[in-house]
Amino acid sequence: MSSYNYIIAEPQETGVLLIKLNRPEARNALTTALLTELAAELEAAQENDLIRAVVLYGNDSVFAAGADLKEMAKLDAVGVLQDVRPKIWKRIYDFKKPMIAAVNGYCLGGGCELAMHADIIIAGESAEFGQPEINLGIIPGAGGTQRLIRTVGKSLAMKMCLSGEFINADVAVASGLAAEKTADDQTLERALELATRIAKKAPLAVQQAKEVLLKAFETDLEAGLHYERKAFTVLAATEDRNEGIAAFLEKRKPEYKGR
Ligand code: CAA
Repeated sequence: MSSYNYIIAEPQETGVLLIKLNRPEARNALTTALLTELAAELEAAQENDLIRAVVLYGNDSVFAAGADLKEMAKLDAVGVLQDVRPKIWKRIYDFKKPMIAAVNGYCLGGGCELAMHADIIIAGESAEFGQPEINLGIIPGAGGTQRLIRTVGKSLAMKMCLSGEFINADVAVASGLAAEKTADDQTLERALELATRIAKKAPLAVQQAKEVLLKAFETDLEAGLHYERKAFTVLAATEDRNEGIAAFLEKRKPEYKGR
């Protein structure tokens, strides 16, 4: 257990770190302090070889209702220009291990943007995803426009960002925003189960896979294929690759060491 004020970090025995957002009185609105704690915990997890995957959760009824509007209201244009938040979001984006967002209830604005920083989203049946910034006379500012359109395509991203309408778990899954829909009381359990499965794989291969897959957002096909082949080649030099293939041929379970 950690001693944070706005998140709860609970390492599991399975190599999975569960991080819960913990501002229920404000629907887990993302203050700078909360995001700073989250970035710090992810950086600590990055350095901890015992942690192989992260699950990010809100609570049973909300993931996060976006940027904290009381905090945002105090910022003028210069304040926004000098805001540290983009740097904090970059620290979260730079986390190299797999991260799964388990989403029940509202997942709005910066909350939806945070979920999109995760690699996989599991959506409970109550999940509602939205970019309602337009209702406030602003637009998403933590990657929402760019990541959403690359994830769900133009028409749905435009509908969400221009109208502020929410989408439910079914639409999230159909559009590729979420990987699976679950019953609400299974959302966290399913995310932990999936993270545990990933945590048992060869860590270097998992991290390379994540890095290469994310490159697809940034590169053309030729550059992406080149990047993939380089990573594939680098992995050929790892002990875990030899162990994985040897274990298959010897009909036993592999023991991966992250080397
Ligand atoms: N910031 C600060 N406080 C928030 C908040 C937010 N984003 N969302 C909810 N809260 C607070 C409310 O002010 C309220 O506090 P008080 O009890 O002190 O009044 C408490 O949480 C409960 O909120 P509601 O009574 O509104 O709860 P509800 O269940 O009826 O509605 C909700 C939930 C639909 C999420 C609604 O609170 C809401 O619409 N919130 C704002 C959503 C939003 O616009 N998000 C985008 C923010 S901008 C952004 O995210 C941009 C970016 O990252 C760059």
